[in-house]
Amino acid sequence: MPEYPDAAALAEVMAHLARLPPLVTSYEIESLRRQLADAAAGRRFLLQGGDCSESFEDCESDCIAKKLKILLQMSLVLVQGSKLPLIRVGRFAGQYAKPRSADTETRSGLTLPTYRGDMINHAGFTPAERTPDPQLLLRAYERAALTLNFIRSLVDGGFADLHHPEYWQLGFVSRSPLAAEYTRMVQSIGDALRFMETLVGSPVSQINRVDFFASHEGLHLYYEEAQTRQVPRRSGWYNLATHFPWIGERTRRLDGAHIEYFRGIANPIGVKIGPGVSPEEAVALARVLNPANEAGRLTFICRFGAGKVATVLPTLVRAIREAGATVLWCSDPMHGNTETTASGIKTRRFENILAELETAFLVLKDEGAHLGGVHFELTGDDVTECLGGASGVTEADLTRAYRTQLDPRLNYEQAMEMALRLARLMAQNRT
Ligand code: PEP
Ligand code: CO
Repeated sequence: MPEYPDAAALAEVMAHLARLPPLVTSYEIESLRRQLADAAAGRRFLLQGGDCSESFEDCESDCIAKKLKILLQMSLVLVQGSKLPLIRVGRFAGQYAKPRSADTETRSGLTLPTYRGDMINHAGFTPAERTPDPQLLLRAYERAALTLNFIRSLVDGGFADLHHPEYWQLGFVSRSPLAAEYTRMVQSIGDALRFMETLVGSPVSQINRVDFFASHEGLHLYYEEAQTRQVPRRSGWYNLATHFPWIGERTRRLDGAHIEYFRGIANPIGVKIGPGVSPEEAVALARVLNPANEAGRLTFICRFGAGKVATVLPTLVRAIREAGATVLWCSDPMHGNTETTASGIKTRRFENILAELETAFLVLKDEGAHLGGVHFELTGDDVTECLGGASGVTEADLTRAYRTQLDPRLNYEQAMEMALRLARLMAQNRT
């Protein structure tokens, strides 16, 4: 947790945050939980994606609309491959705090606190910018509300209407070698919709629209706690800052503050688990975070790395099964595949990301379980942060459009290609 120099100012902001209206409702949270329970039973599929770290700067219409577009397009492709309804969850409207490996950073003899995300301090390297400022918690809440407001309006207003996939088209279709495959999918969805409407004799209005849910790492406990409330006619406490908070790999210690906070809320939750997790620890996490063993409550977001997934995942799946615990298995093929190039740029290789994803899918299937969801860092923009993919981003390209504040994201074409490859695998393995 960052250290705020002025405890009274922090307390005042917390009280203010606790008074402001909630960003999401318990109805939406419960609906997501039911949908995740379906995914745990193999009847739905979870697609979660967005920036590693949202910035206040990027709280603008084009950037938000592009994130929706990419998630919508990927979900369309995954519906086609899996023949399952999709749950769309953005890493947005609250992803403003980041775990850092060091508390301080030193440049030319000056040591300052590290940058921990726009909710906490500023990226600039001066004492004023790096000092944690509680007012930024309010600015984060406001940005989250603006983001959610725009997303809800777009979705309600017909932006996500399945009759008009062209509304959400980005550049992909004109450029990518995989464009033909995508266009075919979109056409067949249009045909299926028209067929249904002809059959029923009226527009299929309920399937016009799709839902979106929000998620972020529940890292900054001051922010999360201030928005954790009881609601009328329901028992328990809800984090009303987001639908689906998750615990990061660095803060999932069984005796840590984050587990203590998360075990007390009613939301569906995720936990990131890395290659260092033991089967006993995974079982203990399931017990403490989901004591009633309810389907939909707990998602394990696995991020092992392409080289480790085949050895780590099977033992975990067996241990969880033997313990009788219900979890939704989700793959985050990004965070275990981060590397630094010879020239010092943090990147990830498309082939490693895809390899981890495919291996996770096949391992889970072999073990009698199933992959119920995926978690990506991506953007609707044409950035060059990850290497490879059909469009062939090379090391030399990395400097051209490297814009992430922290982790490298799949660009638009890479994200679509990833979805197409996963859809193919799902279609081949459908029973
Ligand atoms: C993240 O999702 O950006 C992140 C920090 O992940 P992890 O906790 O898995 O390292
Ligand atoms: Co990240």
